[in-house]
Amino acid sequence: MKRDLVSIHDISKDEMLEIIRRAAYFEKHPISEILKGRVIASLFFEPSTRTRLSFESAINHLGGRVIGFSDTKATSQTKGETLNDTIRVVSNYCDMIVMRHPIEGASRFASEVSSVPVVNAGDGANQHPSQTLLDLYSIYKTQGRLDGINIMMVGDLKYGRTVHSLLQALSHFKAHFTFVSPKELNLPDEYKEFLKVNGQSFYETEDIMECMNEADILYMTRVQRERFPDPMEYEKVKDTYILKKEMLDRTKPNMKILHPLPRVNEIALDVDNSDHAYYFEQTRNGMFTRMGIISYLSEINGIVEPFNFD
Ligand code: CP
Repeated sequence: MKRDLVSIHDISKDEMLEIIRRAAYFEKHPISEILKGRVIASLFFEPSTRTRLSFESAINHLGGRVIGFSDTKATSQTKGETLNDTIRVVSNYCDMIVMRHPIEGASRFASEVSSVPVVNAGDGANQHPSQTLLDLYSIYKTQGRLDGINIMMVGDLKYGRTVHSLLQALSHFKAHFTFVSPKELNLPDEYKEFLKVNGQSFYETEDIMECMNEADILYMTRVQRERFPDPMEYEKVKDTYILKKEMLDRTKPNMKILHPLPRVNEIALDVDNSDHAYYFEQTRNGMFTRMGIISYLSEINGIVEPFNFD
């Protein structure tokens, strides 16, 4: 049966660890030919810099070829073609589809009509599983472990798909969560319920300084203007948290700041020179992690022969 990566729930804890293991391998051996002769479609119905380019770079580093689009204006969607028809057609041209779409559930729908595996590169406010895997790799590289991490997630916890995917993944590793947001952007109840059912402890506050000194990871997020139905609501909350260097004076020495990026103004530029800043290294980890994801899915879907990653 075809295996997709639409939600972080589509893979087990062992599979997450296997993809991280592969990311570490590809970081040491970034040139490969395992996808030679294979074609992967990169379909971005919503803007992206990191996810699209790191996936495309990953495919190129694996010896594969990329087809696709980064702007729907140049596609037959402008003539009224449905997502169903686009995916059914494109899946005739490739071995795998990487897709971003603004509508929650669009990737799951695509996976159901596609004849080739689908990797969700972000669907609305729902899920961003490849970001989660690169976040896990970044946490592992900086902390030397995934178990028992104290993570503080700050900003747009309502619409932040990277937050939603990451907290679900970290629940396999018994994390302690602190959620920091204005009440308008609180984590939705369904995710809190998920954590409770999985025996995960969490704490909510509006004060970014309250628990900062206990954190191993400070996961900053952008308030996402594009997700707000009412622009006035965005204006009210957009500048709630701006992380400045002096706020880091008493944090743990090895505390690292992650951010899926892009940033707007939630991290001041002076933080970039701090030893705590890790968000640019995190983007680099993204390419190796996406090599891990594509190689793993290609093997389990029989697109390529198993390769020895030891
Ligand atoms: N982190 C992330 O998804 O960035 P892009 O929107 O630039 O792909």
